[in-house]
Amino acid sequence: MTLNDEQIQTDQALLQLGRRLQADGYQFTCVTPLTQARNNARGSKQASTLRDVFGWNRPFPASLLSADEVAQMTAAQVLDREGDLLRSRVRWSNLDDLLLVHAGYPTQQEDAVFFGPDSYRFAHVIQDHLQHHFKAVEHAVDIGCGAGAGALLIASAARHAQVTAVDINPLALRYTAVNAALAGLGNVTVAQSDILDGVAGTFDLIVANPPYMLDTSKRLYRHGGGALGAELSLRIVEQALPRLSPGGSLLLYTGVAIVEGKDALLEAVRLRLSGPQWQWHYRELDPDVFGEQLEEPGYREVERIAAVALTVTRST
Ligand SMILES: C[S@@+](CC[C@H](N)C(=O)[O-])C[C@H]1O[C@@H](n2cnc3c(N)ncnc32)[C@H](O)[C@@H]1O
Repeated sequence: MTLNDEQIQTDQALLQLGRRLQADGYQFTCVTPLTQARNNARGSKQASTLRDVFGWNRPFPASLLSADEVAQMTAAQVLDREGDLLRSRVRWSNLDDLLLVHAGYPTQQEDAVFFGPDSYRFAHVIQDHLQHHFKAVEHAVDIGCGAGAGALLIASAARHAQVTAVDINPLALRYTAVNAALAGLGNVTVAQSDILDGVAGTFDLIVANPPYMLDTSKRLYRHGGGALGAELSLRIVEQALPRLSPGGSLLLYTGVAIVEGKDALLEAVRLRLSGPQWQWHYRELDPDVFGEQLEEPGYREVERIAAVALTVTRST
């Protein structure tokens, strides 16, 4: 992806801001939107710490940060004014040793760059695979990288590997590049791509945490398409299987709408993976996530949304 001079300067300023937070020992664990709202509804609505500013995303007086920090946020184009107060347009959250910039709260914009509790569950699936699967990873791709959680974890666990982070959203690629630079990872490249259309070759490891909801505003990080949000997950399985090298694996973390006890994604992948060249495993990681979604249009028949992980390995 090619950036113009202004975008390069903006992203440099964002990187400097991240370095500053790291040096200050900043730590924050990203929570669900409901938990974020509940925390922000308590006590003072105004920020008094760095975690309030960049984690809880509360408005703050300019005097809370140094003039340098405010200038850096202005240069990074992540500062909004709310009357007499300021508010960050981005949040920063930790994933193990990584610090990641991602969308501010609430994530209303169509091109909001996602990081959240799903990213932590996705990270566990990747870490578990890297610990128990002994094929060396040379080429990996993270489909729908968002802020880069999957790509950066693989790149830091396999320093010799070339890791490609792809997303349909150009802002996600810019944040992933900033986050990779902040982690000192030179083995991550970013590319704009609809699933794998924009990148060539085969991979030892393909990972994805795609959107899996029916989102009325069709936000890129949230809308999975199809009847109940599963279309993108199925397209990823279809496109990824022929791009696995022998012994290579696909890790798909996603959510499925369960109707009358039935998991339509599992039924579809069972048919697709019936041949002898695939070893696969499908498990429910959490039986009930984002329960509030059941009140949204299109979810009348859905009894729960389950977080699932599909692991497919191509035989050698
Ligand atoms: C739920 S977010 C996950 C982000 C990141 N992988 C994580 O775990 O934190 C889904 C991501 O998929 C991207 N996406 C949506 N449709 C896509 C497509 N057709 N091709 C590539 N990426 C896509 C979105 O822009 C978003 O960044």
